[in-house]
Amino acid sequence: MSFKKSQTFKSKKMLKIKNLHAAIEDGTEILKGINLEIRAGEVHAIMGPNGAGKSTLSSVIAGKEDYEITKGDIIFEGKNINEDAPEERAHKGIFLSFQYPVEIPGVSVTNFIRAAINENRKANRLEEMPAKEMLALIRENSEKLNIKKDFLSRSLNEGFSGGEKKRNEIFQMMMLNPKLAILDETDSGLDIDALKIVADGVNQFKNSENAVLLITHYQRLLNYIEPDFVHVLADGKIVKTGDKNLALELEEKGYEWI
Ligand SMILES: Nc1ncnc2c1ncn2[C@@H]1O[C@H](COP(=O)(O)OP(=O)(O)O)[C@@H](O)[C@H]1O
Ligand SMILES: [Mg+2]
Repeated sequence: MSFKKSQTFKSKKMLKIKNLHAAIEDGTEILKGINLEIRAGEVHAIMGPNGAGKSTLSSVIAGKEDYEITKGDIIFEGKNINEDAPEERAHKGIFLSFQYPVEIPGVSVTNFIRAAINENRKANRLEEMPAKEMLALIRENSEKLNIKKDFLSRSLNEGFSGGEKKRNEIFQMMMLNPKLAILDETDSGLDIDALKIVADGVNQFKNSENAVLLITHYQRLLNYIEPDFVHVLADGKIVKTGDKNLALELEEKGYEWI
């Protein structure tokens, strides 16, 4: 297993999930005892067959109310966040990408992100970001992601192609600059261009202070983003953990091998 420099210095513990069980409304348990620890500077990939509970795990970390934690703990930066509302978790620095982004006619890409950033700052008792600073940040990140000016003034997600949706999602992540970014990549609709947009964005985003939890069905995304750890989720449990070679092995042998 390869270790990055940041890890040899025992980087900061960011997320700790202990024996997490979560159920849907009718009481059916979907997550059946998840243990996971993520430190600053790490990229973790979660792979697994359809229906394993990958999206449920990302939703439960983000606090979506469709699920109830029936046992276990989610600790973020040393504090239990089991009872925190999704907004509170977002304000603490947890970001979850949207698989099915909503269209908001009349609200531009930039206005949406401006509002989100300032709402975040307000919750953390910070002043609104000065317009000049905001503009500089927008410019910096749109240049990094190759985003054109006219894209920034378009209505949010209205008529966006798959690639544009991804670009917007990654732009939101870079602008919000979360501590923990969770990207749930469905197998559908990720063509090679969209895949590269996601990979390029994640590679520019990651640093020694933040962490990325990448959920993906296919190994190919991991050709572009090198994970420090790969976990296999099956039937609501992490059944195997390894490094990037585990993803390659899975690609070769299929999930039946697990
Ligand atoms: N809100 C929900 N209502 C009913 N069933 C759900 C809900 N969320 C997840 N499930 C079920 O839980 C299982 C895991 O789903 P999911 O987390 O979406 O898996 P994955 O993302 O790994 O494909 C599936 O059987 C799915 O039907
Ligand atoms: Mg899913």
